[in-house]
Amino acid sequence: MSQHAREPEHADATNQKAGEALAVALDRTLAATPTLTARIHAVREALGGRIAFSSSLGIEDQAVLHAIADAGADIDVFTLDTGRHFAETLETLDATERRYGRLIRVIAPAAEATEALVARDGVLGFRLSLESRRTCCDVRKVQPLKRALEGAAGWITGLRREQSAGRATVPFAAYDATLGLVKLNPIADWSLAAVEDYAARNEIPVNPLHAKGFPSIGCAPCTRAIKPGEDVRAGRWWWEQEDGKECGLHNSPKTDIAINGATR
Ligand code: ADX
Ligand code: SF4
Repeated sequence: MSQHAREPEHADATNQKAGEALAVALDRTLAATPTLTARIHAVREALGGRIAFSSSLGIEDQAVLHAIADAGADIDVFTLDTGRHFAETLETLDATERRYGRLIRVIAPAAEATEALVARDGVLGFRLSLESRRTCCDVRKVQPLKRALEGAAGWITGLRREQSAGRATVPFAAYDATLGLVKLNPIADWSLAAVEDYAARNEIPVNPLHAKGFPSIGCAPCTRAIKPGEDVRAGRWWWEQEDGKECGLHNSPKTDIAINGATR
C-alpha cells in the first residue's frame, strides 16, 4: 500500500486520539463542576463544531434542556419521533417549544425502511421476537439517531447512572469511536430525586405520565407504568429479560435481519 493510501487511516487515528484526550479532560472538568448550567457552558467551551442534544422529552432531558436555555448555549436540540409516542409526549414537545421559544428538530424514521418493516412483521411486530423488537428500534430510533448526529462533534444525553445496572458506570464524557464524537452525559451523577427537585424549582414542563407511574417513557406500545418497588426501567419492554434491556441508542445491539435488502 502506498504512503498516500494510508493517510486517511492516520488521520482517523489522530482524530480518535485527540477525541479521547479531549473526553478524558472534559470528564474530569464536568465531575468538578457543580451546576448543570456550568457543565453545559464547560461542554460548549471545550468542543468546537456542532453539539447535538438528543431529547426523549423525559424529565431528565427536560432538565438538560432547561440548563441549555439557561446557559444560552448554541446547541442543536433534536428528538426522535418514532411514530409510536404517547399523545402526552407530543403535548410535552409542544409545551416545551412554547416555554423555551425554540423549535426542537423532529427526526422521523426513513419511510421506506418503516414500510418494509411493517410489511414484514406487522404493525405490532416487535412483539414477535427479540430480533423483531430490536429491528423496530433500529429502524425507528437507531438509524435516525445516526442521521441526526452526522457531522456533530459532541452528543449530549440525559443518561443517569442510577437508571439501571447497565448504566451504573456511565461517564460524564467519553469518546465514541463508532460515531466519531464525544458523548456527554452531564447529569450522569444525578439521582431521580435531584432531577425532580430541579424540574419543580424551575417550573420545567414535564410529561404528565411521570406522575402516573411512568418514570421512564418510550414508545406507547412498549412502555407501561411501574408498580411500587419496581426498577425505574421495569416498564420498558417489560416482556423481555431484565438484563441489558436497551433499544440500541446507547449500546447498539446487532441484528442480522435484512430490511429492504440492507443488513444491519
Ligand atoms: S432508551 O434508550 O431506553 O430509549 P431512555 O429513554 O432511558 O433511553 O433515554 C436515555 C437517553 O437516550 C435520553 O436522555 C436521550 O438522550 C436519548 N433518547 C431516548 N429516546 C429518545 C428519543 N425518542 N429522541 C431523542 N433522544 C432519545
Ligand atoms: Fe419499536 Fe417499541 Fe422500539 Fe418503539 S420502543 S421503536 S415501538 S420496538
